[in-house]
Amino acid sequence: MKKLFLLSASALTLFSCIDNESADKMEQNDSGKKYSFTERPYGKVEGKEITEYTLTNPSGMQVSIINYGGTVTKLMTKDKKDTPGNVILGYDTLTGYLQKSNPYFNALVGRYGNRIAAGKFTLDGNNYTLAGNNNGNSLHGGNKGYDKVVWTAKKLSDSSLQLNYLSEDGEEGYPGNLSIQAIYTLTGDNGLKIDYTATTDKATPINLTSHCYFNLSAGADSTILNHELQMAADKYTPVNDVLIPTGQIADVKGTPMDFTTAKQIGKEIAQVPGGYDHNWVLNKKDDGLEKVASLHESTSGRMMEVWTTEPGLQFYSGNFLDGTLTNTKDGKKYVKHAALCLETQHFPDSPNQPSFPNTILKPGETYRHTTVYKFSAK
Ligand code: BGC
Repeated sequence: MKKLFLLSASALTLFSCIDNESADKMEQNDSGKKYSFTERPYGKVEGKEITEYTLTNPSGMQVSIINYGGTVTKLMTKDKKDTPGNVILGYDTLTGYLQKSNPYFNALVGRYGNRIAAGKFTLDGNNYTLAGNNNGNSLHGGNKGYDKVVWTAKKLSDSSLQLNYLSEDGEEGYPGNLSIQAIYTLTGDNGLKIDYTATTDKATPINLTSHCYFNLSAGADSTILNHELQMAADKYTPVNDVLIPTGQIADVKGTPMDFTTAKQIGKEIAQVPGGYDHNWVLNKKDDGLEKVASLHESTSGRMMEVWTTEPGLQFYSGNFLDGTLTNTKDGKKYVKHAALCLETQHFPDSPNQPSFPNTILKPGETYRHTTVYKFSAK
């Protein structure tokens, strides 16, 4: 409505100057509130400055992001009484994010999110070996994935932060110089949108995702077992004992993996050895942006929808959290199932699974992925 009004009142100005500044003005809401964008120093990694950027939308939703790992350090959304709360796990300072056992808290993950079996794949007749950093398999890009590198940040507008990273040929064993851009945008309808693009100069596997740990109770409930989850997925990819897909695509119907209607996460988790840590095959018709999951926490009333262009969704129920992480926000103990991740992705181990959707990016092509985490309360 606001946009329409602006169009009639100042159409000429709008048409002649669609730049970041005018985009910012259009981002006011009807009560005249605006977006704000602030930044503050957050420390140094390998001699490089780390900055925390905080974006606030007109209705008060707020996200803070650092250029170390493209990590979200805070995500404030309102509950049904309009009280804001932080819905992700995190640490008080950079020291927390740098601890060795930090399990990818809220970071951008790549070059290949999730696992590649035995850290090996063959591409164009060449054999590649990656770090076997997880039971001999490669997890989340290897020893130093994109969660542990310093990205270059640029403010695009009061509602958008662009992060760039050039992943060099051979880095962590992957072929090709991969030039990556991730844009975080806080939308007017309380969405945190991430737009990824990437190009390469040699064929390479790619699977970028965001590893946010959500607990919609904002600290009131120590686990997510009472959250209700729904996923638009009739099928999932079963895994072996080290979480590598068997190659089978199985029906969820009649199993604890069935979230086609909203279900409490704790209801059948005991029947899943280790807890939920699987890739669901989304019922999407194409690679358009679709709503694929909803999460609800009834006490706070907070609701989160996940929208994505990707074919898969890793639902990880925080099984490996064990209360031992240090420097946590407010000294909280992050126990088993303290939070969950809904990682939009291509299927794990796709480079070794010919029947899974393609994850190879070739020179001349552009990798594109959009995901939105959208918040409300009821
Ligand atoms: C994986 C888990 C892993 C976790 C790391 C998830 O994406 O599926 O197996 O432990 O990331 O925090």
